[in-house]
Amino acid sequence: MKKDMEKILITEEEIQAKVKELGAILSKEYEGKNPLLVGVLKGGLPFMADLIKEMDIYLEIDFMDVSSYGNETVSSGEVKILKDLDTNVEGRHVLFVEDIIDTGGTLAYLKDMFKYRKAASVKIVTILDKPSGRKIDIQADWVGFEVPHEFVVGYGLDYIENYRNLPYIGVLKPEIYQ
Ligand code: XMP
Ligand code: MG
Repeated sequence: MKKDMEKILITEEEIQAKVKELGAILSKEYEGKNPLLVGVLKGGLPFMADLIKEMDIYLEIDFMDVSSYGNETVSSGEVKILKDLDTNVEGRHVLFVEDIIDTGGTLAYLKDMFKYRKAASVKIVTILDKPSGRKIDIQADWVGFEVPHEFVVGYGLDYIENYRNLPYIGVLKPEIYQ
């Protein structure tokens, strides 16, 4: 796997230190609020697993699976729900846990949907942010790292479903795409 990497952008140590830091901030923010952390599958899974272990408060978790309609040329914001929550969010403090915000389409859609479902609050924590990819004006409330305008893999992010298990984040060698 490491042999497939052109470069490593964020090391395992850097990720773990950042997750600890975010866990402490979020514990303070959500203390006494019994938040519902919603992991967006599949990419948000490693971050969710690590983050909740750094949060020393009462909280619940649930997962959603979504996919964007069509391809990049289709205007973003159209999202298909593949798996919805098992939890009623009315009156709940919802925190989305994401791998990356690129166009912003996925989270803009989910945020609106959860306001409609009468969540008490809807916020976003993402381990990665790619601000250069933004098509919809949406900001995460907490960001781990900004990444450049490159396709990145690892720590949940895939290339054709592989590389999600890497503990670091990097860019693949060009020959991998051939
Ligand atoms: P939005 O709606 O913000 O969606 O464009 C973010 C989703 O797009 C995928 N994505 C990536 N996946 N490497 C990946 O493996 C990347 O560099 C990348 N950029 C965007 C990802 O599925 C994310 O949830
Ligand atoms: Mg994804």
